[in-house]
Amino acid sequence: MGESHRKTALITGCSEGGLGFALAKAFADAGYHVFATARDPRKAASLTSYSAQIEVLQLDVTSAESVAACAAETRKRVSGRGLDVLVNNAGVGFVLPLLDTPISEGRKLYEVNVWGMLAATQAFAPLLLDAKGVVLNISSLAGAVRLAWQGVYNSSKAAMTFLSETLRIELEPLGVRVVTAMVGEVATDFYANGTARNAFALPADSHYKSVEAIIGKQSAGELQKNNESADVVARNLVRDWSLCAIIFDPLRSVPGPFLLRFTNLPVRLRLLKGTKAHYVHALHAKPREVDVSDPAGAREIHGARSGFLKDPNFYFVAKGMESLRSVFSAIDPAFHAQRRRLLGPCFAEANMVNLEPTVLERARLAVVKMGEDLRVHGNTDVLKWWTLFAMDVISELCFGQSFHMLEVGKKTQYATDIAEMGAMLPLRGAFPWVISMAKYLPPRLFPFFHNVAMSRQRVVAYSKARMREYLQLVEHNPSAVKRTLFAHLVKGGTTGMGLSEEDVTVESQSYITAGTDTTAVTLTYLIYAVSRDEKVRKKLLEELRGLPDDFTDRHVRDLPYLNCVIEETLRVWGATQGAMPRIAPAQGTTLLGYRIPGGTVVSTQNYSIHKDPEAFPNPLVFDPSRWENPTKEAKAALMPFGIGPRNCLGLNLAKMELRLCSAMFFRAFPSAKLSYRAGMTDEEMQPEINFLLMPKGHRCLIEVEE
Ligand code: HEM
Repeated sequence: MGESHRKTALITGCSEGGLGFALAKAFADAGYHVFATARDPRKAASLTSYSAQIEVLQLDVTSAESVAACAAETRKRVSGRGLDVLVNNAGVGFVLPLLDTPISEGRKLYEVNVWGMLAATQAFAPLLLDAKGVVLNISSLAGAVRLAWQGVYNSSKAAMTFLSETLRIELEPLGVRVVTAMVGEVATDFYANGTARNAFALPADSHYKSVEAIIGKQSAGELQKNNESADVVARNLVRDWSLCAIIFDPLRSVPGPFLLRFTNLPVRLRLLKGTKAHYVHALHAKPREVDVSDPAGAREIHGARSGFLKDPNFYFVAKGMESLRSVFSAIDPAFHAQRRRLLGPCFAEANMVNLEPTVLERARLAVVKMGEDLRVHGNTDVLKWWTLFAMDVISELCFGQSFHMLEVGKKTQYATDIAEMGAMLPLRGAFPWVISMAKYLPPRLFPFFHNVAMSRQRVVAYSKARMREYLQLVEHNPSAVKRTLFAHLVKGGTTGMGLSEEDVTVESQSYITAGTDTTAVTLTYLIYAVSRDEKVRKKLLEELRGLPDDFTDRHVRDLPYLNCVIEETLRVWGATQGAMPRIAPAQGTTLLGYRIPGGTVVSTQNYSIHKDPEAFPNPLVFDPSRWENPTKEAKAALMPFGIGPRNCLGLNLAKMELRLCSAMFFRAFPSAKLSYRAGMTDEEMQPEINFLLMPKGHRCLIEVEE
């Protein structure tokens, strides 16, 4: 064979005067090394003088021996590189009324046009698999129309098309693409060489004797006047953009479960049901989707200047409500960077000391409320109290006043509305197109979407009213206002530094969504994990024993074991374990060595990254000691707050909440353990993962030993 870097194409039916002959020249011109095959190689011999890149081989697609011999010969000639393109072109024609067609003649034609194509595909499949190649089946428009006198030929082409389209589905998961070309009338020697002319002769008793002359003309190809030249058709086929795109489609080589090559439905349904999935490294699902579970890949995707942007279908802002863009939902990098610059100081480590009194006060109240529950009911739902705590904290930090949900002991309408909006997340993750359809669905038939829309409206109105109250309070009685996140952005009752009142309202809303369940769920699992592990509990209590009664974040922030417990909780049960979808840059990119076309949805999910056995031996075991001297790999694979420019803006606040609340809880309830009194089961604590992780039972009952 010629130079080994050339792609290879094997073409059946290359006798001179036919489309195969023209295709051999066109593929050679396009830089391929061509194996031009023919039943009688002498009829294709002149191709070798057309190009040194064409070799002629003997192949009769109706002979099993010939097919096997040609496949073996080709294997030798490609010397381990596989076959890039198989062109099933061999075919014969036949013109005769169906009533007059000898079945034996029909069978002969089917042997070439139908079984010959399948036999060649089967024989060359191992070589095509090696090269992840393409099968190009030359079918015909004749297979899609009903023309008198050509019934056998046309039906053979219909059968070929159907086989080809089915092969397309069956071979794609194996990495081989199949293209069906439906060509029209081509100027070839088809009529002169095929069985058509040889076989044409109406029997004496034919019902069609009166039109024999016209059938004869059709058989001789004399009725087809404007046929396209074979060379033009061949060149068009070879240059066809879609063929090239398919040949070079880089996603074909991304590994993944076999079934997902056909459909991404299993993944979608998992997302909807919140079932956890564990994939290794990279996964390719249809259509155009890649999931990456590799820490290095996640860094490539989420790193600065990677070009990957948040997927607007997921981080969606409703049409017509673009002004509701927040730092969380923003897609445009310039808008996001500007917001992040403005808001960075609000969440900076240096500002935590100003936010701490709110956190301390709410955390103390949460623990008091849990204590009351324990006294009255014998158990307490820590998930409920941490949720009310987290929402109270953010509302106070955003609006200067708490929602006082801890005092009331239950969620307000606002909180319920926020949860209702969050209920869209699984659906949005699984079937984003459903969301864009929602506005066209009649509310009576689809009350879910209607309720979500109503919740959104109430949340927007409520947030606006709270923000107005806060700004008025700042204007008239600044000393009565608690210090908020926005303190340095608000002067004399108005916002500044490029953020309007509406902007700040929208931001607040997004922090309530981003900072409530995330913190509450992580805290809940921390309590759960420590409560059921005596060794961990003992070690943690020892460390906490040394704290003063009025401890603050200054006392706990550097406690080594508490921080190990927090890190390990975030690894195993951190709230953000679901897929974070991004869109590959328009020009495409390379990821983990794979070429990713522009527009591909690429997701990472912490559930798998945090369970990478290379970074975390015994990954499913909760073991805080692994953070005492963490390996480089472990550090690189822990990303509960995300990484890069879109990492968690509330990270410092969240960490402070986790430290203060867990220390306060275990000092108050050192003997805390899971309570089975109210029918609670271990199964209820199994995580359900949509975008966020949540215990299946949506509660976590704890009791203390008498
Ligand atoms: C344990 C608690 C928390 C965890 C595990 C967590 C985790 C995360 C993660 C993984 C992201 C990236 C999401 C994505 O790209 O899809 C994120 C983004 C964000 N988080 Fe958090 N978060 C927590 C608490 C908070 C809190 C308390 C706040 C605010 C008050 C907050 C505000 C945000 C914001 C605004 C973003 C978007 C940042 C951006 O796109 O620039 N988070 N968080």
